[in-house]
Amino acid sequence: MIATPEESGATLWSRRDVFCLAGWCGIAAGLGIGGVAFGRFMFPRVLFEPAAVFKAGLPEEYPVGTVSERWKQEERVWIVHEPDGFYALLAVCTHLGCTPNWLNAENKFKCPCHGSGFRRTGVNFEGPAPRPLERVKITLSDDGQLEIDKSVQFRFERGDWTKPGAFLKLKV
Ligand code: FES
Repeated sequence: MIATPEESGATLWSRRDVFCLAGWCGIAAGLGIGGVAFGRFMFPRVLFEPAAVFKAGLPEEYPVGTVSERWKQEERVWIVHEPDGFYALLAVCTHLGCTPNWLNAENKFKCPCHGSGFRRTGVNFEGPAPRPLERVKITLSDDGQLEIDKSVQFRFERGDWTKPGAFLKLKV
């Protein structure tokens, strides 16, 4: 003898129950997706970039005739002290963006990636780099320190290196 569902204690879902359950699942999924979207709206992914401006210390801290690597790691900037003043070079190869090295004995910057070479002025002279390194703004702040602003960049090929901020005339 075959038992009916009522006799066996088993529960059969009616078509209506299944549709109802699917409806609630849909509503729950919609609320979940809406909640995630709301959370993303309230807490957007913000990229906190390091400040473009930094103080680089007193001019006397940089001996005349040197290329300082003091800020290369932290800020990707070299500070060059020539007899008549200072300029700051961005340590970003103009080929594909690697970080070149300063070779003091050879008086040049050399990129380890594809071999581009730059003179101490930043002008390219060997390898695939299509243009000179960029200079960034260098000024003297109120407290007497060198101030570098990486958001202001000067390109040699546009004639920017003679503009104010590309070179700080200062005899120390
Ligand atoms: S990234 Fe510097 S030579 Fe290619």
